[in-house]
Amino acid sequence: MAVMHGRKILLGVSGGIAAYKTAQLIRLLRAAGAEVRVVMTRAAEQFITPMTLQALSGQPVRQSLFDPAHEAAMGHIELARWADLILVAPASADCMARIAAGMADDLLTTICLASEVPIALAPAMNQGMWRNSATEHNVRTLARRGIRLWGPAEGDQACGETGPGRMLEPEQLLHLVGECFSAGAAGGLTVLLTAGPTREPIDPVRFISNRSSGKMGFALAAAFAAQGAEVTLVSGPVVLPTPPGVRRIDVETALEMEAAVMAEVERCDIFVGCAAVADYRPAQAVGQKIKKTAQTRDIGLVRNPDILATVAARPRPPFTVGFAAETERPVEYAQEKRKVKGVDMIAANLVAASQGGFERDENALTVLWEGGRKELPMTDKPHLAQLLVTQVLINYAERHSAEDT
Ligand code: PMT
Repeated sequence: MAVMHGRKILLGVSGGIAAYKTAQLIRLLRAAGAEVRVVMTRAAEQFITPMTLQALSGQPVRQSLFDPAHEAAMGHIELARWADLILVAPASADCMARIAAGMADDLLTTICLASEVPIALAPAMNQGMWRNSATEHNVRTLARRGIRLWGPAEGDQACGETGPGRMLEPEQLLHLVGECFSAGAAGGLTVLLTAGPTREPIDPVRFISNRSSGKMGFALAAAFAAQGAEVTLVSGPVVLPTPPGVRRIDVETALEMEAAVMAEVERCDIFVGCAAVADYRPAQAVGQKIKKTAQTRDIGLVRNPDILATVAARPRPPFTVGFAAETERPVEYAQEKRKVKGVDMIAANLVAASQGGFERDENALTVLWEGGRKELPMTDKPHLAQLLVTQVLINYAERHSAEDT
């Protein structure tokens, strides 16, 4: 793994039976060419000795925030700056809660708070603790902050129970560390997305629009960029900041959105239509503000072009991903839309008032493609976007390997 050569990995070990696996993880990381320094929590020492990890890492193991030998020179800040990646494995429920809360009550959490490098956690705990709503809340908080969560796996647990909570195996963690230092799963790909609503003018001060806030589309743009893609985001009117590394084109109407997409689509590998494009626009946008003289007034509407279907119908289309916002029978209607519009994947989105969907911070999706489907659970949109991007990249890679053979 050439990509690992000379990489500096700060391995945090918190208290859990899976701590014994970190011995093998250190061996694998060093064999791959990485430098490893270990920070243990007090609880971790109950499961594996500092001496073992010191021998394997070839470096003194740090345990205390108040170690006079190191803290005279602000050792915790020096360690936070030294690392290229912080990996906490195992990450116990307690350790995750403290990092999520921004606490700095021991050396490991202090380093996590002080550091600006990527942080990955490999959760390991009893399945009941993992499923507890307190842990779920912490997981969402951590994901929102861009902290990577690697695992947990499901299976037999040391406590005799079965379920999610097992730490990933050292070989799996080594692979994920390698991915972290490579270009990212979407490195070299160009992704074009639409997000937000469109506004269809009735007169200079009034318009037809919808409740889309842009949160989902912006979260997707951020998730693709985080995976190394070159991302262009065509956005309707929203009040969101542009995600780092994303090129943004602001539009107002469906026709403007279509024009912006068509100007960019030629060079994109993946197109995602997340915008809630108005299906109709007023047949005539009146030049002056309409006076309220009449008791009733009809607005004649004409169909807007379907941007997603137009992209999918191109002679050499990109890999196309659509959304289907439905208030009933989401999977059935989404399948229909997938086929009619000729798209590769579609995310069925139940937008009933009591659920996620428009405007809300959370959502759940059922992703559908020819011969497959995946349920993405109710979670915050940044996390949901990471899950959806992972699935899109898998399906995109499969289609390309099928085309190559
Ligand atoms: O922005 P948020 O508040 O976070 O909300 C997110 C969302 C609910 C807007 C988003 O998750 C979502 O579901 N977007 C699609 C909304 C929609 O318009 O669905 P639809 O079923 O009407 O359209 C189907 C697909 O065709 C969509 O991919 C849409 O972008 C596309 N379309 C629709 C009409 C049109 N004229 N052109 C299009 O490209």
